[in-house]
Amino acid sequence: MCGIVGVVSDKDINEKLYNGLANLEYRGYDSVGMCFINGSGIDIKKGVGKLHEVNSKINFLGMPGKVGLGHCRWSTHGGVTEENAHPHIDCTSRISVVHNGIIENYSELKEELEKKGHKFCSQTDTEVIAHLIEESMKDGKIEDAVITALNKIEGSYALGVLYSEEPDKLIGARNESPLILGIGENENFIASDVPSILSYTNKIIYLEDKEIAVLTKDNFKVLDLNGNVKTKEIHLINWSAEAAEKGGYEHFMLKEIHEQPVAIANTLNERLRKGEVKFEKEFGLSDDYLKKIKRIVIVACGTSWHAGLVGKFMLEELAKIPTDVEYASEFRYRHPLLDKDTLVIAISQSGETADTLAALKEAKKLGAMTLAVCNVMGSSITRISDGVIYTRAGPEIGVASTKAFTTQLCVLYLLTILLSKLRNTLSQEQINGMITGIRKIPLQLQSVLDEDDEILKCAELYYKKPNSLYLGRGVNFPIALEGALKLKEVSYIHAEGYPAAEMKHGPIALIDNSMPVVFIAPQDIYTYKKVLGNIEEVKARGGIIISVVTEGDAEIPKKSEHTIFIPKTMYTLSSILSVVPLQLLAYHIAVKLGRDVDRPRNLAKSVVVE
Ligand code: G6P
Repeated sequence: MCGIVGVVSDKDINEKLYNGLANLEYRGYDSVGMCFINGSGIDIKKGVGKLHEVNSKINFLGMPGKVGLGHCRWSTHGGVTEENAHPHIDCTSRISVVHNGIIENYSELKEELEKKGHKFCSQTDTEVIAHLIEESMKDGKIEDAVITALNKIEGSYALGVLYSEEPDKLIGARNESPLILGIGENENFIASDVPSILSYTNKIIYLEDKEIAVLTKDNFKVLDLNGNVKTKEIHLINWSAEAAEKGGYEHFMLKEIHEQPVAIANTLNERLRKGEVKFEKEFGLSDDYLKKIKRIVIVACGTSWHAGLVGKFMLEELAKIPTDVEYASEFRYRHPLLDKDTLVIAISQSGETADTLAALKEAKKLGAMTLAVCNVMGSSITRISDGVIYTRAGPEIGVASTKAFTTQLCVLYLLTILLSKLRNTLSQEQINGMITGIRKIPLQLQSVLDEDDEILKCAELYYKKPNSLYLGRGVNFPIALEGALKLKEVSYIHAEGYPAAEMKHGPIALIDNSMPVVFIAPQDIYTYKKVLGNIEEVKARGGIIISVVTEGDAEIPKKSEHTIFIPKTMYTLSSILSVVPLQLLAYHIAVKLGRDVDRPRNLAKSVVVE
């Protein structure tokens, strides 16, 4: 999972490459490099560390050039060293390559190339591509050599290629890793995502798998791997570049937590009609089909998988549709039983997670209908699904997902309303109640954000504790999982999420007077009293109790060291409110510990490798 940006322009481009990489660092930040075509060849600079660290040593911004590539790396093949950082070059130093993905047959190719005399300088799979293009270089053009090389490669790639003998060209190619083209004024771009080039152009072309793009400063063409020219549509993006900037917050994560009321309001906008829900034309699934569905399977990874678990509660309890939630990485290798009456929903912020994409392809192969719940327009997952519902969270840059999660919950809730109405599982009065409930959420969420002082106090008291437990039941059990995941991701503290009642089957042995236990216990008609019992059990063993409860609760606060209140709402909606204090708690603890909150070690925002 790496980030790629490339520019061909009539002006100097080093700042554009630098800014592009700064926006892409969420994809990988163990090493970074840039290359430019100069009058006589290709200049390359690269180093180990984050962009600003490497730049302070080797000054990327001082490199002149009008055609160039930048790359930030998240290592897969080969350790984190300067030699393994991209760009990589061929034996003649005339071809340079940056790559995101995994070349599966790289060792066979490397052996063949070494036999032919090619000398390798790194342990990466990427370097094979540079030598393969060199080997394929006959008298033709660079694009022909790239096509010949790509026809020998198995695996995933987003590529940027420069060739010093054709200095006016920038080549891009993709297969199962994201790459877009940006069309500017006297300059054109390739990039791993839209926000990285949004300050320079909002005209975007999405490359499909096995397509290559040849860009000059004032032209572009897209070819398939047989050399046929493809017609491509230019999409106008309506996100602003500012939306991807920190806007006065210390970190993207904090900004994105605070953006949730607006992100949710945007996600609901124009979808709630009088007494019903209506999605846009991308939704693509007919009422007839939705009435006939026998089963739903949700596939996702990480935080999106937690959203799926909440979705199961909504879909089963209200729309009465049997729903299974699967890790995409397990589903894809498990020979699942699906048919045309099963709707497979893929939930993904990025729309590029390799396992979710593969699970979706498997579902399609087995004949199921597919629906994507996704935040990134035109991403791979949205393009292969039969229908799409976009979360409208805006660009999410912090590696730990926050506003994408709560908007995913909103979309699943809207879908539940739609299905419940179509299938007559709820009365119109109940549906009206659900609509009223969700309309209040943006304002209610703002009041949860206003409780930040109490959350900060908890963080200050407990940030040195090495372990913690998050417990919840029903719809708030996935929230316990998500709270624990947030803490692990950004603070590196070990945390476990558990169903509160399961605590007595193991985790209770961990509890002593140094263990913070976070109870997510909004009032409900099902399990509130039982959770109260679990709190007593923890208290009796000396555990430190932090609770998230409904406003007006007089019982649990008496038994807790700290209490955070959330407004009264419907059972299923309580999850959207109760997760927010947990996001803030993880954030504050990570800041107190001096962690790199937006770019936690070893993680990447979108995992485009298996
Ligand atoms: C990575 C990110 C997580 C995210 C997961 C799934 O692990 O660090 O924050 O939840 O991928 O990503 P997706 O884009 O498919 O939601």
